[in-house]
Amino acid sequence: MRVADIAPRTLLGPGPSDTHPRVLEAMARPTIGYLDPQLFALLDDIQDMLRAVFKTSNELTLAVSGTGMAGMETCLANLLEPGDRLLVGVAGFFGQRLVQVAQRLGAEVCTVEVPWGEVISGEQMRQALQKQGPVKLVAVVNGETSTGAWQPIPGIAEEAHAAGAMLLVDAVTTLGGVPVLVDEWGIDACYSGSQKCLSCPPGLSPVTFGPAARAAMARRKRPVSSFYLDMALLGRYWGRERQYHHTIPVNMIYALHEALVLVLQEGLEARWARHLAQHQALKSGVEALGLRLTANPAHLLPSLNVVATPEGVDEGSIRQRLLEDEGIEIGGGLGALKGKAWRIGLMGEGARPEKVQRLLAALGALLGG
Ligand SMILES: Cc1ncc(COP(=O)(O)O)c(C=O)c1O
Repeated sequence: MRVADIAPRTLLGPGPSDTHPRVLEAMARPTIGYLDPQLFALLDDIQDMLRAVFKTSNELTLAVSGTGMAGMETCLANLLEPGDRLLVGVAGFFGQRLVQVAQRLGAEVCTVEVPWGEVISGEQMRQALQKQGPVKLVAVVNGETSTGAWQPIPGIAEEAHAAGAMLLVDAVTTLGGVPVLVDEWGIDACYSGSQKCLSCPPGLSPVTFGPAARAAMARRKRPVSSFYLDMALLGRYWGRERQYHHTIPVNMIYALHEALVLVLQEGLEARWARHLAQHQALKSGVEALGLRLTANPAHLLPSLNVVATPEGVDEGSIRQRLLEDEGIEIGGGLGALKGKAWRIGLMGEGARPEKVQRLLAALGALLGG
């Protein structure tokens, strides 16, 4: 098979989402060097545009080379040292990932856990903090891609700060699709991914660090265990020094730049409203087919919808038919929901009425016939 033979798909799974043609065109521009002044102009713009999208004035805001997991590892590796205490809110697969990554870094990890599909309340966080004693960092997932539950942040931030801890938020499935208000909510560090609601291919991970996070990083006793993800070193390439650290993936920088231009041309509020409207259309549509969303109805995540597979229906074969017959990709359940649910992502270019209607029609025909 040659790349030229790849058939286009409509990506309505847990990510990546469809890439806008302007982003694909941007990626095809000639590669330039990592020290080219033209590239630096793009990096400066990306930092400004990411600040606008994260709703933050944090100076240390940039895109780490790598996917969302690189953002997760960057935040944990820079904020934690071996023996530091971390409290993770675990409400699904990606909360568990935070635990695994932090354990590998030698942190002392404790958790507050709720059933899949639920979110963690401020009260649950307060009790967990009381029970666990002092922690350096609290980490939660804003949009749990495994369950479709939408974790509110302000109450968690309040409890974390009252207990003297910083707050880290995973915004991989939320940034650019629903409000992520880093400064207003008091988030100390946050990471995302290029390939979901920003509708760019996978490969870059936006991160932002606030004043408390930077102070904690400045107080470190040991260097960050990962050279590649060391924010102090990355900051010297993205910042004024322009010091070589690694060869940044230049054409991905073009892509993220154009994707962010598109986000800001649309306007964040309009974009959030579009994601919400398409989520509501999908919810009504699947309910009309006799299906239901599995997450707590008060906390449904617009960008990722987990739909229970009806009794007697093979979830994998429906997914396969959608892909092979219609060119539509949706995801299967993860972890506890494996084989029992579909994950339908309405992210970025996926959150378009014509795509939602096409999926509903195809799903209806497959389930009816
Ligand atoms: C909530 C969340 N966090 C982290 C990740 C990891 O991102 P990636 O797969 O881009 O490395 C994902 C990916 O789906 C995610 O949904």
